[in-house]
Amino acid sequence: MTEFEGNQDVWRSASGRICVASPHVARDVLGNRQGAFKESSDFFHTRAGVFGPREAQVEIGRAARDLIRRHLDARRADLPRLVGTRLTPTSTWPDAGNLLIHEHLRDVLLRPDSPAELHSVVDDIIARAVLAGARERHAVLSRLRFRRRAMRLLIRNIQARRSAGHPAPRDLLDVAVIGAGSSADPSQVAEVYLSFLFATVGSIGFALGWSVHLAGTHPDTTGDEPAWVVREALRLWPVAWLFARTPCRTHELAAVTAGPDDEVDVCLYLVHRNPLHWERPNEFVPRRWAAPPREPAYMPFGFGPHACAGATLTMTLLEDLIRIITRDWQLSITPSGGGPQVGPALAPPRFTAELRHRAAAEPPPRGGE
Ligand code: HEM
Repeated sequence: MTEFEGNQDVWRSASGRICVASPHVARDVLGNRQGAFKESSDFFHTRAGVFGPREAQVEIGRAARDLIRRHLDARRADLPRLVGTRLTPTSTWPDAGNLLIHEHLRDVLLRPDSPAELHSVVDDIIARAVLAGARERHAVLSRLRFRRRAMRLLIRNIQARRSAGHPAPRDLLDVAVIGAGSSADPSQVAEVYLSFLFATVGSIGFALGWSVHLAGTHPDTTGDEPAWVVREALRLWPVAWLFARTPCRTHELAAVTAGPDDEVDVCLYLVHRNPLHWERPNEFVPRRWAAPPREPAYMPFGFGPHACAGATLTMTLLEDLIRIITRDWQLSITPSGGGPQVGPALAPPRFTAELRHRAAAEPPPRGGE
């Protein structure tokens, strides 16, 4: 983050990258209406370049959204039980949030009748690559060996599913296989599937962690609308906080000249705290969302053609969970030391949450009142 500690709108950092903290420039870069940047999407970025064509990207986003939404609608009533069993009496965060989301989405991430070794490798990917700080817990060589084994297994299953030729997706691996088409490079299809694991278990889990942490450390906001809490948590701590884009021609970004050899980094963390756009920008004020501002300085799900396909369903799920946690339970937070965990995603600090059922925690009403 030190790269981004300037207070200008657009500047060139010590390492030569162009950093953007202005909401308007951020929209120009991500919206790419002038075609000044190479088409790109962090979600579809793979080791062999950006997965494409665009029609396949759009179809994969649409099919994933439909499938997850159906799954969530069918299981919405299960959320109170999940909170009661997963998070009480105490839970260790941020992993608790990721694991709760994993349990809730398990069957849509990988359908139950998939081979046992595929289930086990998906569990291992989550433990070794998705959870906050997971990568640092394993030596580089062990990570490389695991990645090779996981990719081999995913590719084998992708090829098997292609040969079976099922017409409609039953889980997110099917979404990637069917949407990519039979000629797509299977290792790119595997990476698109990995993006789904990061977006669901990773990003939704971290956003839940931030919302719980902020709600628990600001008891004065108890009773505020869950939707405001989640929006404000994603403003202060946008899980997807940094977007890299490459110019395809030389042009001016504010007062900085950007060319094809440059990397332009849009820093949403700074955009979301821009004091020209937000009052008390560094404070947690869910009530500011009571009258939702038509705010150009808020884009936790990106902006423009590559904005998130799962934004609405993610917000609904987070709001449902925060409603249950703050309505039914009294929440108290104990920090475990350390600050936000900054990686490709912005994960919350480690903390313990204690949930006491409100019916048990609150004194019974006095007679006659
Ligand atoms: C808190 C949760 C999430 C956050 C913060 C998030 C954030 C984002 C952001 C910022 C982008 C734009 C990336 C760019 O412009 O380079 C994006 C794209 C995308 N997201 Fe999400 N996302 C989340 C959850 C999900 C979920 C649950 C899905 C499942 C459907 C999903 C599917 C996608 C897809 C398919 C794209 C690429 C869109 C395109 O390029 O057409 N995301 N997401």
